[in-house]
Order: sequence, then C-alpha cells, then structure tokens
Amino acid sequence: MDRKVLVRMHAGFGTLALLLILSFFTSTVVVELQGDITQIQMVKRYIVYGIGLLAPAMAVTGFTGTKLSGKSRARLIQQKKNRMKRIMMLGVAVLIPAAFLLNYLAQFNAFGMLFYSVQAVELVAGAANIFLMGLNMKEGFMLSGRIIRKQKA
Ligand code: HEM
Repeated sequence: MDRKVLVRMHAGFGTLALLLILSFFTSTVVVELQGDITQIQMVKRYIVYGIGLLAPAMAVTGFTGTKLSGKSRARLIQQKKNRMKRIMMLGVAVLIPAAFLLNYLAQFNAFGMLFYSVQAVELVAGAANIFLMGLNMKEGFMLSGRIIRKQKA
C-alpha cells in the first residue's frame, strides 16, 4: 500500500480512537456531576457500543503504525511502541471490563459502593490512556516532520 495512504489511515484511526476515549471520559464526568439516572444509563450504554468502534480503530492504528515503522530502531518509534503496549494493557485489563460492569450495574440501578469504586478506577485509567495517546499523537507529528523538536541548548 502507498505510504501516504498508510500515514493517512494511521493518523485518522489514531485520532478517532483518541476522540472516542475523550468523549467517553467527558460524557461520564458530565452525567456523574449533573445528570439524572436515565442519562447515566444512556452514557454507560453508549460507552459499551463505542468500544465496538474503538477496538478496531486501535487495531488499525497499531497495525499501520507497525507497518510504517518497518525495522526502524529510532527512539521515538520505540517509545510509541512501548506506550501502545501500555495503552492496550490498560484497555484490555481495566477499561473494557469496567465499561461492561458499569453498564450492567447502571441498567439494574445498582449505584452503590461497587459502582462508584469501579467508576473512579475507570476515570483514572481513562485519563492515563488519554495522556499516553496524546503523547503518541504528538510524537507522530514529530516523526512526520509536522512538529519540529526543540533542540537542547
Ligand atoms: C494511539 C496510538 C497512536 C496515535 C494516536 C498515533 C498518531 C500518529 C499521528 C497523528 C501521526 C502523524 C501523521 C501525519 O503527520 O499525518 C503518526 C505518525 C507515525 N506513527 Fe503513530 N500513532 C499511534 C501509535 C503508533 C504506533 C504504535 C506506532 C509504531 C509501532 C506508530 C508509528 C508511527 C510512525 C512511524 C509515524 C510516522 C509516519 C510518517 O510520516 O512516515 N504510531 N502517528
């Protein structure tokens, strides 16, 4: 496949993934702070459906990123790969199970200690993933020369 197409796909799906996680995070915070139960239930359901889009978007981002990197051992690329591993770990081990459990509890009106504890963990892990994905985006722009790295004095 043409490299230009690959870069566009990579940047497009990477950005989509980041925007999805950002929307999960902000909609959660907004409805927890000022929404009613029906709105919380709606957001919890939206997140579970959203994962159906997020998971393939992450897979395409990882696959195209690996293809674009080839055999490069450049530091920025190694850092992006390591970050991607942590992003996937947090997603698979914390965020996906939390989203399903929270949706289940919300649909049964079970807004007790368990709901809010899992919710807190989900928000912390979600914030960490937003941060890591943001760094990957920034370093992506550095790799393609859209952002010039500051020189050390
Ligand atoms: C959530 C994860 C990621 C996001 C959000 C992301 C985002 C981006 C963005 C926005 C660009 C700039 C493209 C452009 O200028 O149009 C880029 C470039 C790049 N990314 Fe990623 N990326 C991610 C993961 C990865 C991974 C895991 C790898 C390597 C295994 C990788 C390798 C690359 C490479 C090599 C480029 C430079 C492409 C070029 O211009 O030749 N990325 N990335």
